[in-house]
Amino acid sequence: MPRLRKAVFPVAGFGSRFLPVTKASPKEMMPIVDKPLIQYAVEEAAAAGITEMIFVTGRNKRAIEDHFDKAHELETELERKGKEALLAQVRSVLPEKVSCIYIRQPEPLGLGHAVLCAQPVVGNDPFAVLLADDLIDANPPAMARMAQIFEKEGSSLLGVEEVPHDQTQSYGIVTIDKMQGDMARIHSIVEKPRPADAPSNLAVIGRYVLTPRIFELLAHVTPGAGGEIQLTDAIAELLVHERALAVRLPGRRFDCGSKLGYLQATVEFGKRHPEVGGAFTRYLESR
Ligand code: G1P
Repeated sequence: MPRLRKAVFPVAGFGSRFLPVTKASPKEMMPIVDKPLIQYAVEEAAAAGITEMIFVTGRNKRAIEDHFDKAHELETELERKGKEALLAQVRSVLPEKVSCIYIRQPEPLGLGHAVLCAQPVVGNDPFAVLLADDLIDANPPAMARMAQIFEKEGSSLLGVEEVPHDQTQSYGIVTIDKMQGDMARIHSIVEKPRPADAPSNLAVIGRYVLTPRIFELLAHVTPGAGGEIQLTDAIAELLVHERALAVRLPGRRFDCGSKLGYLQATVEFGKRHPEVGGAFTRYLESR
């Protein structure tokens, strides 16, 4: 089975749930304490052995490219001032042996369309998809577990988690066989069903491993929920041809696409931040 080497990060979305901050800055650059969301996702992919990071970007997303680029002037300045710790942090933004490739999604036609834009770079290889606004706090990281399962099973994988019944309309929802450990075969998937129509409350979280057949299917998918080309609809089609597995993700997920989830992540990561964690925890306890 070929190893997982490539990851796609769809980062072209408008981030409308976070306006006005996302008017001119990418939502993926929003920090949890001092690291942008997209960096957490890239580090997670790198920890899973992935070396090619493929970003599907759009307008106003140049900051992401700059973030993972070498910052010569900044590095020279930090070196001159002897700020070694900061210099090391700046240099480690892009994990070692990792390369970045940027593709533009000309129009925001949906997650499925964004993934299809990556086809010329992904080619005929299996690949991961990570949605940076699902921040998963797990050790070992969620994608590392998925990569391990992929090497053994060789089939497409979707990260899943149970959500409250009244929230099915925010997610792709799957039905599965009985869980064996942390995985189960997927029977069906549907994008954002109303609670009354939802076949279960098992939601797809923003972590996927996909076989390249998904591209053929994406090319023919017609607009679905919200008038968008949905990845979920192509996965539903994939299930006709191939087995796919749901993987119960380890750790805790923060929905950083929502203000509440973002604040919760900030508090939890803040409490154990090496520099301010102690003081921040004392502050929270003193209130
Ligand atoms: C996307 C997918 C959805 C999935 C969700 C996970 O929705 O379309 O199936 O459950 O990510 O975060 P979005 O959050 O982009 O609306």
